[in-house]
Order: sequence, then structure tokens, then C-alpha cells
Amino acid sequence: MDKIAIEGGIPLKGEIAIAGAKNAALKLMVASLLSESPVTLENMPAVADVEALRGVLENLGVAVADEVESRRVMTLHAASIASTTAPYDLVRKMRASVLVLGPLLARCREATVSLPGGCAIGARPVDIHILGLEALGAEIGLEDGHLHGRAPDGLSGADITLPRISVGATEHLMMAAALARGATTLRNAAREPEIADLAACLNAMGAEIDGAGADTIRIRGVERLDGATHGVLPDRIETGTYAMAAAATDGEIEMTGASAAHLAETLEALEAAGVEISDTNRGVTARRANGRLAAVDIETRPYPGFATDLQAQFMAVMATAEGQSHIQETIFENRFMHVPELLRMGADIRVHGGSAIVNGVERLLGAPVMATDLRASVCLVLAGLAARGETVVNRVYHLDRGYERLVDKLAACGARIERRTA
Ligand code: EPZ
Repeated sequence: MDKIAIEGGIPLKGEIAIAGAKNAALKLMVASLLSESPVTLENMPAVADVEALRGVLENLGVAVADEVESRRVMTLHAASIASTTAPYDLVRKMRASVLVLGPLLARCREATVSLPGGCAIGARPVDIHILGLEALGAEIGLEDGHLHGRAPDGLSGADITLPRISVGATEHLMMAAALARGATTLRNAAREPEIADLAACLNAMGAEIDGAGADTIRIRGVERLDGATHGVLPDRIETGTYAMAAAATDGEIEMTGASAAHLAETLEALEAAGVEISDTNRGVTARRANGRLAAVDIETRPYPGFATDLQAQFMAVMATAEGQSHIQETIFENRFMHVPELLRMGADIRVHGGSAIVNGVERLLGAPVMATDLRASVCLVLAGLAARGETVVNRVYHLDRGYERLVDKLAACGARIERRTA
């Protein structure tokens, strides 16, 4: 298994081109199931999750083509659906593949999707997805670990209030409702920029969706959707990660192509800690101002709150800030798996349920570490970049799921970092 080795303590300086958002790209790929015509996605990130979902979609009969010169353009053509079953060995690699259920029901009136298992960061049930699809008229049953859905008369619009804010359920129901008969209102919807991006693509395909990005989304179902060409929005989590890499190493990084507007609360927390953030006309620059950073408290929240996907990275920054920082995780019940590894690097952190108290230390020390999910792994990379001595991060496949060319991008800013193939 590959490892990443880092010799820490070097301030990172330079620019990093931000990729298209993984968490938008995946849903946009699924949206191609809704149309017989090709959907072309530009600015696609080259990450392993995209490839895993591609496998799921190809198995359903979607023809997927990358532009030969650049893998940034992907065309997905679901001219006909060859299979309405997404089997376990494909779904388990890629949790977001459960989102094919609604589009298949809308288009083919039946679908079988293996229930994705729990995952490292928490139980992550799909009850809200099911409740919403049932409200749209589908019958969903669970048998042998598979969700079987039927909608013999097609889906019909409904007024649905999500019992809890869920990004995936909002996107799933928006896609299904786009082809339902009549109007759907989604209340208590998630407001992430990726949801507005998906709605923009669906509308370009001929859907009639209003309000995506706000907490009430209105969808007027249409009979069919066409193809479209759509550019994936920049990855705000990748942007925030590199801003924190600059903060953790006393450096200065310009994230080109990034949008500061999508990171408001995160950037405010960094500024409060003493990081200078400037919105340039090419993107966003993060620069550590003079002196040691100050401890800042955060609480993860649905958008526009502080993103749970940046909590681990922020903790790596707080590990060497001056003072005590309280970090509260409210979205997932088990998202502190980076803490025991940070402790091995000399951090002083105590966890009580969903909250962590971080007492900043002067310096972290390099160590061999490993983590069990994407953001926890990148948190350890940041800690390694800031630490004295060598850090070796194991289980690099977690990073490959969501960070495009991470080692190259950091090395271009002066990091002493290399990937070692075992
Ligand atoms: C998306 O996951 C992202 N994944 C996650 O990013 C991100 O952490 C999360 O949203 C929150 O921002 C993708 O977009 C592919 P949710 P999702 O439904 O949609 C509970 C990363 O690192 N819930 O908003 O699965 C759930 O357990 C990943 O890139 C239910 O109880 O998240 C969680 O506690 C990890 N029942 C909370 O809601 C349901 O039916 C929010 O989950 C659905 C969710």
C-alpha cells in the first residue's frame, strides 16, 4: 500500500489550481441517468471516487467517455438503461451511489440498489432518502441488504419536509422530482453550493427548479430532460484544506479558481486565528500573518456554517495555536478519528462525545500515522507539513478518493513530500 512521507517544518509558498468539487461532480454524474441525451461535465476532478461512481454508472448502461487530451471533460450518455440494479460490490466503494435509486425510479419505474454500509465517520443511514422517495409515490422495500424500489405509475410531486438537513437526500429528491408528475416542494433542504450547482445543470437539461441554495426548493416536474454541458464548480473543501496548509506552515498560498464566497464561515475562523485572507481576482490567498496563530472555537453546521469536511484540517491548525480551542462536531457522530494520531504527533487534545478541546502546543513532532477517512487523512498531512521531522501517512487510498494530485500540488509550493509505493 502506498504511503506519503513528509519532512515537515517548511513554510509553503506558491499557487495551487483548485479542482472541480468532488461532491458536486458525483451528483452531476448521477444526473446523467435522467436523460437519453449526453451530459458533458467540464472541470471534473481526477479523483478515485469519480472513477468508482463511473463503474456504477457503466454497469447500469451509461456510456462514459473522457476527452482524450484531458480527463477534465467527461461525457455521460444514458441512451438506454441496461440494468436497474446497482450491486453491493460497486455501491460499497462509493456511498453516493445510493443516489441512483431515485433517478432510476423516475426513468425506469423500478430499481434495486444495495444499501451502502455504515462508514467510518458514523452510521450514515438513508432513511430520509427513502422517506422522500416514498412521499413521491415509490414503494421501497429492504430485502437481503438491497433496497428495491417500484413506482409502477411513475413518481408524482409532493410537499416534503426533510426531518433533518441532509445534503444527499436533498440532491436525491431534487433529481427524482425533476421527472415526477406535478410539483414538488422540498422544505428544510440543505443549502450547500453543490446543490445549487446540480440544480443549474438540471435546469440546463430542461428541469424547472427554483430555490436551490435556499431551504425551500420548488420543482415542477417535466416529461423529459435533454442533454447539457455544465462546468463543475470549484472544490471549496480542497480550497479550505490548502488555506489551512498555508496557516499550519507559516506560509502563503494562492488557490486559483477558488471562490471565497463558498467558504465564508471557514475563512472567518481562519482570519480570527490570525490568517490573512484575500479575495484576489484569480481566486483566494491565505497568508499566515506574523506570529503564532490564536486559538478559535468552531462548531460544524450545515452550510453556510463551518463545514464538517474541514473540521479535521482546522484541528491540525489549532494543534499548534496559542491557547485553547473548542471544536464541536454536530454533523457526524464519529468524526474525530484523527485525534489519536495527532496525539502521537505530540498534540494535546481531549475528546468528550462530539466535542474536542485542543490545547495548542509549540510544535508537533513527525510520526508514522494512519487514518480511516479522507478528511482525517489530509488533516494528518497538514500536521506532518507543520511538524518537526518525518511523518509517514499510511493508507493513502483515502486521500486519492478526494484530492487530485495532492503530493504534486503541495510539492509545487515547496513541501518536502513524496509518495512511496510499497
Ligand atoms: C455529504 O454527505 C458529503 N458527501 C459529505 O462529504 C459531507 O460530509 C456531508 O454531505 C455533510 O456536508 C458527498 O457529497 C458525496 P448528509 P451526505 O446526508 O449527503 C444524517 C467528504 O469528506 N442522515 O448531509 O451523506 C447523516 O448520518 C464527505 O467529502 C440521516 O440520518 O451527508 C449525517 O449525520 C464525507 N439519514 C447527517 O444526516 C439520512 O437519510 C448529514 O448527512 C441521511 C443523512
